[in-house]
Amino acid sequence: MNYSLSFIFYISILSLFIFFLYIFLSRKINENILIKTLFNKNKLREHEKEINRYLEVLNNLNDGIAVIDRDKNVIFVNPAFNKNIRSAAIPANVKRFDFLIRSFELNSLVDSIIASNDIHFIEKKIKYFDRAEEKIVNCTIFKIGTSDEYAVIVKDATYLQKIENARTTFIQNISHEIKTPITAIMGFAETLKNGAIENRETSIKFINIIEHHTKKLNYLVDDLITLTNTETGKSPVKYEKINIKSSVENSLILFEKEIKEKLIDINNNILDISFTSDSSKFNQIVTNLIQNAVKYTEKGGIVKLEGYIIDAKTAHSFISEPEDASILWNNLPLKEGCEKFLFFSVEDTGIGVNYTNLLRLGERFFRVDSSHTAGHKGTGLGLAIVKHTLILLKGSAVVKSNLGNGFIFSFILPEIEEPS
Ligand SMILES: Nc1ncnc2c1ncn2[C@@H]1O[C@H](COP(=O)(O)OP(=O)(O)O)[C@@H](O)[C@H]1O
Ligand SMILES: [Mg+2]
Repeated sequence: MNYSLSFIFYISILSLFIFFLYIFLSRKINENILIKTLFNKNKLREHEKEINRYLEVLNNLNDGIAVIDRDKNVIFVNPAFNKNIRSAAIPANVKRFDFLIRSFELNSLVDSIIASNDIHFIEKKIKYFDRAEEKIVNCTIFKIGTSDEYAVIVKDATYLQKIENARTTFIQNISHEIKTPITAIMGFAETLKNGAIENRETSIKFINIIEHHTKKLNYLVDDLITLTNTETGKSPVKYEKINIKSSVENSLILFEKEIKEKLIDINNNILDISFTSDSSKFNQIVTNLIQNAVKYTEKGGIVKLEGYIIDAKTAHSFISEPEDASILWNNLPLKEGCEKFLFFSVEDTGIGVNYTNLLRLGERFFRVDSSHTAGHKGTGLGLAIVKHTLILLKGSAVVKSNLGNGFIFSFILPEIEEPS
């Protein structure tokens, strides 16, 4: 009896022990699971954060990135890719790479990398047309690691290409502009040396030609220096009171001879006003405009000059509502807080320019084709100087013309007391 009682006692103690052990262990296990779950959740959150970080970077890159599979289904595409090469207005359900992009060439490059086992990387500059505008993009296509996926990266290089083209054109033009007078100077000097100098009349004629070409070279170098200084900000803006009327009169004097010879009627409506801006830069603009008006107006034509003060509201409508077929230059926002603006315009009844050429005015060395400018000397830098000087003075301009029907160049300048 005693024996069985103590057996029951021990069994109960053991059961109790097992029971507590079970409770203890199960809590421990649950705790571990909980810790593990929490740990995984944290890890998941970290991963999510990391993915969002990468997505944010990819979505804000200027380079377009697309990831595609072997069948050319799009897995990922960032907004810049759409901007740089993707076709406009594609239905959202289109997921095939070849339907998304504009460039046949890029498509073929992708095909070649997918079809080949050896090529894993291609880099190429390609061109395509976007609403008649030529676009240039640098494309890089590569296989992503050992996966069956490919990354297509497109960088918009249109702007860089434009700069490169402008640089090449500039060097070609400048070489030509310098070479022509130099060849003439050398040729006539040599003819003089080889005997022509003996004849006084011929000598004078040749020396005049040499002088003419030397002057031309001199104007070209002057214009180039002015343009470079204006573009690079080497010529600082100095604000002072300008008497607009006398500044214009000083410019007109320079062309007095030509005005008389061509019987040009100068219709001068410049009001007697004082205005604060950079005097020599203002004069530079006006001189170039009057020079063009006189140069490109035939005998008996009219050049009309206007200059008066306008308020901010009128200045605002000048830049926001340009007339049909006119071109707005330097579309800068109006200088904040400025209430006083100068309105200035030079209008002529001359040969004018057609709309296509009007769009190009202000480009360095751009002159309307030679039959149009035949007989008129010039460097093709005048309007480029005007354009850049206007930017420095925070002004805007509107240019309007019709071939054979005159030319109007109007601009506004804000009055600036202190350099900002
Ligand atoms: N008032 C104008 N009337 C007609 N064409 C003009 C006028 N002003 C400028 N142009 C055209 O714009 C071109 C560029 O002008 P500009 O830069 O001043 O160069 P340039 O006068 O030295 O040729 C001129 O060659 C001319 O073809
Ligand atoms: Mg000119």
